[in-house]
Amino acid sequence: MSKQQAILDWVDARFPLTSTWKAHVSEYYAPKNFNFWYFFGSLAMMVLVIQILTGIFLTMNYKPDGNLNSAGVPAAFASVEYIMRDVAGGWLIRYMHSTGASMFFVVVYLHMFRGLIYGSYKKPRELIWVFGVLIFLCLMAEAFMGYLLPWGQMSFWGAQVIVNLFGSIPVIGPDLSVWIRGDYVVSDATLNRFFALHVIAVPLVLVGLVVAHLVALHEVGSNNPDGVEIKKLKGEDGHPLDGIPFHPYYTVKDVLGVTVFLIVFSAILFFMPEMGGYFLEHPNFDQADPMKTPLHIAPVWYFTPFYAILRAIPSFLGTQVWGVLGMGGAVVVLAFLPWLDKSPVKSIRYRSTKFKVMLTLFMIAFIGLGILGAMPSTDARTIIAQLFSLIYFGFFLGMPFFTKNDVGSEPVPTRVTDTNGKRQLMFVILWVVAIGGATAFAKLV
Ligand code: HEM
Repeated sequence: MSKQQAILDWVDARFPLTSTWKAHVSEYYAPKNFNFWYFFGSLAMMVLVIQILTGIFLTMNYKPDGNLNSAGVPAAFASVEYIMRDVAGGWLIRYMHSTGASMFFVVVYLHMFRGLIYGSYKKPRELIWVFGVLIFLCLMAEAFMGYLLPWGQMSFWGAQVIVNLFGSIPVIGPDLSVWIRGDYVVSDATLNRFFALHVIAVPLVLVGLVVAHLVALHEVGSNNPDGVEIKKLKGEDGHPLDGIPFHPYYTVKDVLGVTVFLIVFSAILFFMPEMGGYFLEHPNFDQADPMKTPLHIAPVWYFTPFYAILRAIPSFLGTQVWGVLGMGGAVVVLAFLPWLDKSPVKSIRYRSTKFKVMLTLFMIAFIGLGILGAMPSTDARTIIAQLFSLIYFGFFLGMPFFTKNDVGSEPVPTRVTDTNGKRQLMFVILWVVAIGGATAFAKLV
């Protein structure tokens, strides 16, 4: 017996190393028809690691202190400038973290969209989805609190606007917003608690939820672009006929996704880290000034669909709470998707035209809300945002009705199928139309 084998046996007798590796990696059978949509789960894990590692290094030089230093600059803002200008490699670490935050949402939105088109939230994967929605909530909280830390104008005023929203909740609202801030306005006390939550509390919960997400996934097995349950058809060796071991097949395939992702990530990081003010907003290059409100306060792009819903709902009965409920409801409703969708079919490939039309409308509304939420509001924009908000909620609330007996012309196959060229061409056309349409809409409004 080799020395390595002897060491492994020693460990295995005390810790389930080989058996865990086999159960979750080398003998975990995944459907053999995964397409590019299945890159985003592993990419989300990679971005999570990037965020945690770069975050640790940022913390070594960042100071959560809102008080003015001897030069009249808030110490937190000055420490970020110090990281950018004086710390060796500090600019790289900081830009990796700020670009990583936006790319996290790009990846997670695409990952969620994949779930939507392939019905990956349907039985028996309801809990994978619910854990996913909780991850999404945590991610939003994490990004919101992280954005306060550089203590720039947008950090300060963005937090001010959002925390004030809690104040509109009847009875407990005003006390609740003071409790969240630890003060009557966003202040040093707020900065300190957001720092504590951002660097340790929320990341811990996030990592715990990702573990739960993957444990639930491995319990039932992955869905796939055909929505066929591969565990139903097993060969004589007991393995699914349409499955292949995750390692080496998908570990190697995921390297392709990682490579393409890192090219895009590096291009942004090195050539346009502010991304035209969408990843790092321009007013945030000015230090926080409680006496000077920026002309236009807008959240970072990944919050804008929900922010647009908030602004679209008018105050009623003398309270703004409806907008707040609408914004919260827009996220919470996602968790109910497994029970709202009544279709016997999972994948969009075998669904009715009705469903495809509804999903397209929903996507137009979601992207449209995202564009509107980044702009200052006008009367016309508010009306369009109201229409899109109706479509957004209509999609979920109408789902039990329009997904009843929702089957397409082609029956669901018993075995997984190969992706054909026609389908791939259709995807390319759809991407071009979606990007062109969104750009034209942004120019028009
Ligand atoms: C930190 C964020 C997240 C990480 C690291 C993560 C990780 C993963 C991984 C590694 C997989 C398996 C590979 C794949 O199917 O792509 C997966 C599957 C899945 N995830 Fe996530 N995920 C995250 C967030 C979310 C969110 C926000 C949702 C939905 C709200 C979600 C829903 C799902 C579903 C439904 C599956 C099963 C897909 C299928 O089998 O077709 N995930 N996730």
